[in-house]
Amino acid sequence: MKILVVGSGGREHALAWGCARSGHEVLSAPGNPGMSAVARHVGSADMEEVQEAAQRESVDLVVVGPEAPLADGMVNRLQRVGVRAFGPVAAGAKIESSKSYAKQIMASAGVATARTVVAKSLDAGLQAVRAIAGPCVVKADGLAAGKGVVVAEEQRQAEEAVRACFAGRYGESGAVVLVEEFLEGEELSLLVLCDGKRILPLPVAQDHKPIGEGDTGANTGGMGAYSPVPSANDQLVEEVLDSVIEPVLWGLQRDGVVYQGVLYAGLMLTGTGPKVLEFNCRFGDPECQAVLPRLGGDLGELLMRTAEGILSDVAVETRVEAALTVVAAAQDYPEAPRKGDVIEGVAAAEKVPGAVVFQAGTALDSGRLVTAGGRVLAVTGTGSSLQAARDTAYQAMEKISWQGQQVRYDIGYRALG
Ligand code: AMP
Ligand code: GLY
Repeated sequence: MKILVVGSGGREHALAWGCARSGHEVLSAPGNPGMSAVARHVGSADMEEVQEAAQRESVDLVVVGPEAPLADGMVNRLQRVGVRAFGPVAAGAKIESSKSYAKQIMASAGVATARTVVAKSLDAGLQAVRAIAGPCVVKADGLAAGKGVVVAEEQRQAEEAVRACFAGRYGESGAVVLVEEFLEGEELSLLVLCDGKRILPLPVAQDHKPIGEGDTGANTGGMGAYSPVPSANDQLVEEVLDSVIEPVLWGLQRDGVVYQGVLYAGLMLTGTGPKVLEFNCRFGDPECQAVLPRLGGDLGELLMRTAEGILSDVAVETRVEAALTVVAAAQDYPEAPRKGDVIEGVAAAEKVPGAVVFQAGTALDSGRLVTAGGRVLAVTGTGSSLQAARDTAYQAMEKISWQGQQVRYDIGYRALG
């Protein structure tokens, strides 16, 4: 097949790598310098250009990686002109692009989640924070590139977060604010392929959101991930499919939305059972970089069958026991990542057996690889155990360096200590 991957992050690099590995011809729009080893660049991620490229190249499948083009209706547009695409239509992507909509669907479907006040004014937001009078979580309603959530230990911090939203820190995305009760527990990311009728869970993963070791400091898009997660057995996954995924898909269907693509449930495993933190309408980043290298079989076919609505009689095969992904971020990420630092050692890291480097915020400057975004790249180690995967990932990451590089050295600590 000929597969066009839209996006330029580590997730898209992993998708392109996985499709190329199963023998497909892969194109990228726009891709990144690392992806050029497995995919041919055909243009930008602009909606019109993607459609043109897909038609010009007669691609069999367009895989839309990030949430923004999904929320903007890229899949609707491709479907209208008869191009097969992986990902939900805009009405389905709303499960991520509006956190208040997600809460509404969960409430109507009886899905367990944190108690929440949806505030449409500064006063209402501040009042909600004061009513909780303890740790709480403040979220911008709309898309904010993973940065619209503040976990506030103190009331003052929560009030400040509410004020920042209404003062326009996240633009329109912060015009509505959610104030949630703080949930305690271990986090879990469950990514489920949905073909409109059937669901197929991928191996579970755990993300590490805060910038600092021991889960301290500002929230990021994710500083590392691993799969499997020992505290989440098959029975737990079944429970989440029954009590979260199925009811939400039904809720969407009542709204007239047939959801196709991947549905990502971010869960907190609390003392009273799993509760939903958020839904995403796409693969998680960096979860994707940890989950896909574990898969056996043909990734391109799996994505194609999802988009075609024929997931029946397909199974998800795993080829390796464990994978662990470590992200390296630029200096001053997540506040103001510095660009232009020269990156050394990627080729050496790629030579470490069992390691794969997925690029994200990188660019070529006069032939040299330089930093060009917050999360610059990720290294995934695979192996017969999480410990082996971790050793491989850090052994490879050790070879990579640039000025101000930020790496968490405790990825997987909940499973490995
Ligand atoms: P979200 O984008 O909604 O998943 O939030 C980003 C991160 O903030 C999550 O991965 C959690 O680490 C944390 N978080 C979100 N909501 C809550 C909550 N209600 N209680 C505790 N932590 C939360
Ligand atoms: N790693 C979390 C996310 O992709 O939203």
